[in-house]
Amino acid sequence: DLASKLIDNLPKAELHLHIEGTLEPEMMLRLAKRNKISLPYKDVEDVRKAYEFDCLQDFLDLYYLGMSVLLTEQDFFDLTWAYLERVHQDGLTHVELFFDPQAHTDRGVSFETVLGGLTSALEQAQREMGISSKLIMCFLRHLPEEQAFDALECACKHKEHIFGVGLDSSEKGFPPPLFERVFAKAREEGFVPVAHLGEEGTAENVREGLDLLKVERVDHGNHALDDPALTQRLAEAQTPLTMCPISNWRLKGIPTLAHSPVKKAMDAGLLVTVNSDDPSYFGGYLNDNYRAVYEHLPLVEKDLVTLAQNSFKASFLSDQEKQIQL
Ligand code: ADE
Ligand code: ZN
Repeated sequence: DLASKLIDNLPKAELHLHIEGTLEPEMMLRLAKRNKISLPYKDVEDVRKAYEFDCLQDFLDLYYLGMSVLLTEQDFFDLTWAYLERVHQDGLTHVELFFDPQAHTDRGVSFETVLGGLTSALEQAQREMGISSKLIMCFLRHLPEEQAFDALECACKHKEHIFGVGLDSSEKGFPPPLFERVFAKAREEGFVPVAHLGEEGTAENVREGLDLLKVERVDHGNHALDDPALTQRLAEAQTPLTMCPISNWRLKGIPTLAHSPVKKAMDAGLLVTVNSDDPSYFGGYLNDNYRAVYEHLPLVEKDLVTLAQNSFKASFLSDQEKQIQL
């Protein structure tokens, strides 16, 4: 229908996307074979059947298992290229993508192998599809801060390719104060800070992310809305929130898509964006997430245009680059 065509045709940026979360079952099995890695799945259907999650941790367990097939620079290239080709059809023109180096260096894959594959795909996408991009390196919050410092040291050797630092993985039990020092160092080195906050964690986590980590954007931020003073603060500062409706639903953060906080956040004057998070695991790419909020929330077509415009406003493109995209 009309709204669906509008969604397909609107230029959009994606600001909350874990590249390892785009690994489709077909590619997972192909790479497992290529790299002689054994997986507990016998076919594609078997993989898809396993994707039933009761919480963030259920998903993370399979997410880390799945990415164990990624070994070579070519693997990381193939993964990234497949995502970019897919979302090019969605009208995506800019992406700020997360990667989790510690999940790879922990398995003996070098930081340079990961980064090399990602950047060559991103550069080819700029040349051949006109897609611009920025890379955000995430620290895994379930691992010690010391290992985050190791990742940061690697990133410092590749500043021309890495724009920002983020914080992801298990939120419960691993609050922002644990990463205050490594974020301070990252900011000192010129990396722009963001963090997953208020996905399963509380409004207090979001506040700590702002005050202690000094994040410039909040990933998810759902639970910020539980706190009116914090909501007002985010609205006044126009701190962007990168929300992920289908992810929230699949991880049971919300019981149905009608409970997505996207509309409530828009109404509160927040700079909200819609994103896919880990599209292969949650069964929806960028436009599927736009469709989900349009179908399940009281949104009109103009709100879709606002969300697409917000995706550029909330991006880390320069003001001049934003002007061109908007
Ligand atoms: N890693 C990949 N996706 C994530 C999410 N939605 N939350 C936390 N860590 C993640
Ligand atoms: Zn995420």
